[in-house]
Amino acid sequence: MDSIDGAHVAEHNSKSSCWIVLDSNVYDVTSFLQKHPGGAAIILKQAGTDATREFQNYHPLGYVSILPAGSLIGRIDPGTLGNLRKQKESAPKVAHGDGLPHPSLCVSCPDFETAAKAILPHKSYIYASGSANAGLSLKTNLDDWQRIQFRPRVMRNVGDVDTRRAMLGHSSLYPFYIAPMGTLGAIHPGAEPEMVRGAIAKGVHMVVSTASTKSAQEIMQSFADEQRGLSDQSPTQLFYQYYMPVDRTKAIELMHIVKKCGYKGLWITVDAPVLGKRTKDRALQAEEALAVGMEEERSAEWEVGGENAFAPAMGGRAVTGQLSPHTTWDDLAWIRKVWNGSIVLKGIQCAEDAKLAHEYGIDGILLSNHGGRQLHTAPSALMTLCEIRTYCPEIIGKMEIFVDGGLRDGSDVLKALCLGATAVGVGRPFMYALGAYGAKGVERCVDVLVEELAIGMRLLGVTALDQLKPDMVNATKLLNDMWKPESFRNRL
Ligand SMILES: Cc1cc2nc3c(=O)[nH]c(=O)nc-3n(C[C@H](O)[C@H](O)[C@H](O)COP(=O)(O)O)c2cc1C
Repeated sequence: MDSIDGAHVAEHNSKSSCWIVLDSNVYDVTSFLQKHPGGAAIILKQAGTDATREFQNYHPLGYVSILPAGSLIGRIDPGTLGNLRKQKESAPKVAHGDGLPHPSLCVSCPDFETAAKAILPHKSYIYASGSANAGLSLKTNLDDWQRIQFRPRVMRNVGDVDTRRAMLGHSSLYPFYIAPMGTLGAIHPGAEPEMVRGAIAKGVHMVVSTASTKSAQEIMQSFADEQRGLSDQSPTQLFYQYYMPVDRTKAIELMHIVKKCGYKGLWITVDAPVLGKRTKDRALQAEEALAVGMEEERSAEWEVGGENAFAPAMGGRAVTGQLSPHTTWDDLAWIRKVWNGSIVLKGIQCAEDAKLAHEYGIDGILLSNHGGRQLHTAPSALMTLCEIRTYCPEIIGKMEIFVDGGLRDGSDVLKALCLGATAVGVGRPFMYALGAYGAKGVERCVDVLVEELAIGMRLLGVTALDQLKPDMVNATKLLNDMWKPESFRNRL
């Protein structure tokens, strides 16, 4: 392979000819610029440089395979690295010594967002905090927790409380878990392994995103290494969030990889046949494109990174959806056969689909609107849970029901459990905690949620989670707003 001088690479620094170095290889990415799901501007900023570090903030190095055939044009002459254009990095800073408050000063979830906002690159904060369209689905998520009130019982000897709960047969110290979020490398240099470290230290389960910065194998390896270093094994388990590739062969291949790694369940995201309109990301991409002299930018975001590995199977086309848009309920038959383990459908948003999932024999459903990042004015998980309670209560207890979206207080977990949920997923609070403080922040965030949860249990009058009952909450505000669907008229 040709050896190329850094000075020569540095000359190819425009949209008409864009070369970058990745892992000592030189790539001509000019024809890929407009196909990059994250937008052309991100690559163009790296033109003529060694982009390895920046690339690894978002993708496993293996993702170079998505580049069109013929992009690889040679190896960089190591003696000429100094001749490359100077790299512009947007790696998040490491918290220590940056004037952040000590993690123990974070006493509630919103404190982690304040800390993260102060330290994260603007773009990373926009990625984490953004939502779809005018942000109303996210707002509903946050608001609906407050629309349910407790009905506490008193004088019940609440000296000791037990917060343990099993998820898909795997016991956890708590009834909440870390929700899958893509591209953690944009949030902390340690990316997913750093989150895993925090999870293991506290014994909380975690669902790993297909769109992770590190590969499924690397993340599981970090989990195994961390567990090996402990005298007592942590109860933490890793589950895998699955964005199904469009190509069936690639879809099966990915499931085999995930299974071999030892992930405990497949959480298939079903609320993203196309990517929602992430308004803040779109605005930022447009700004970045203009800054490098490009006017037209496609919609995209880092979260689609997980699909990049499968782009060749899609004719090299950049896609904006994570789940294959062609997926139907019938596909569950072959998926179950291939996976041969627990399956959760992530993103159920009405009682009809919850009932269908039960009829299809699915192990669990996650009521979720993707943290308000997909459909505009989607229902909150709590509203969907109330629908299930009203229209198909018979499925409660027959399958595991998870909820996520907008949870910012540990005691609110109890509301979901009273209404029949198995456990609650927590997303952004952990992402912000990771961004500000790394694994220590993740640990602190667990502590904050657990303290609120345990206090909440005592004040509600329960000592174990199986004592939680629908009578312990007043959900009339949500019930009054609930739609009476045609499909369940006979049940009213
Ligand atoms: C920055 C970010 C990235 C996300 N990435 C994914 C993803 O890759 N796959 C997925 O199924 N859900 C993803 N989600 C949705 C979360 O799994 C979860 O549904 C949501 O964050 C819960 O809402 P909360 O952040 O208000 O707790 C993401 C959410 C955020 C905030």
